Amino acid sequence: MNETKESLILKTLMERNDYVSGQELSKLLGISRATINRSVKRLISRGFPIEVHPRLGYRLSNLDDLSTAPRIVSMIPYKLRYNIYYVKRCSTTQEIALSLAKAGAPDGTVVLAEEMEKGRGRLGREWLAPSGGLWLSIITRPTNIENLQVMTLATGVSVAKAINSFLRLKAELKWPNDVLFDGKKVAGILTEGEIEADYIRFVVVGIGINVNNNLPAELSSQALTLKQLAGRVVPRIPLLVSILAEFERAYKMLLKGSSSAVIEEWKSLSATLGKVVKVVYGNEETVGKAVDIADDGALIIETEKGTRKRVYAGDVIHIREL
Ligand code: BTN
Repeated sequence: MNETKESLILKTLMERNDYVSGQELSKLLGISRATINRSVKRLISRGFPIEVHPRLGYRLSNLDDLSTAPRIVSMIPYKLRYNIYYVKRCSTTQEIALSLAKAGAPDGTVVLAEEMEKGRGRLGREWLAPSGGLWLSIITRPTNIENLQVMTLATGVSVAKAINSFLRLKAELKWPNDVLFDGKKVAGILTEGEIEADYIRFVVVGIGINVNNNLPAELSSQALTLKQLAGRVVPRIPLLVSILAEFERAYKMLLKGSSSAVIEEWKSLSATLGKVVKVVYGNEETVGKAVDIADDGALIIETEKGTRKRVYAGDVIHIREL
């Protein structure tokens, strides 16, 4: 049986997240009912959790069970050869991914955890990562990228786009890379890498999304989960599949030298540009209008004196609209 037909069936069942009849699958994919039947049997024999109902058709079950991710993702014909290491619990997926990268793990290696005990956030902060969220680190080996900032922006674009298309929401990005809804944080990104002289040996992109996990009460004024936004449990496997597809697309654009196109996409999702912001980095504070993103991913602030300043790191506080 053709691997691609099986992948297409899986992809359709995942996107639908409900029963799809054999007749509809056959029509959608242009494959005979008998072939659909045989492919589904084969998928089940390989361990894919497909339920078969005599009248309703087929449905993928356990779409929130992350332990099925390595197998499901291996069936999707991504160009970037994603290879997922799933762990139920770990200290931080960043540390595991960094060690794997140092040991030579290829582009597209992913470490995915159900739960992290010492999740890492930006600027040395702790990132709370209980069971129910989506916590993953992707190893990349970009050959032609000069700075990590554009890689971070590309990841933000992928996460926001995947969330938006999967849940039909309108997520926005706060520079450098928080995914926000109504000003509250739903996801964060941490980029760490090893740079030698003037070339990047590898970049580990850490993505943390509050999906079905609980948030402590003290974070409720600043953070949100996708479950709160959707009003129901959000199945994490299709969301992961969609993030990996968007990430592959943005990463390929960077590898082709189209970082300006990625920056344009970032700008179109931006909640930061056009606002008066305060950027805090250590003891340094810059207040001004967030006017643009530079080619290297820096945030361009126009200060009260009318001078333009490039900011490369720090926490951005949105003060007001212009
Ligand atoms: C932030 O501070 O906004 C960045 C948060 C990044 C969290 C992710 S979860 C997966 C990966 N592993 C970690 O320990 N941190 C990143």
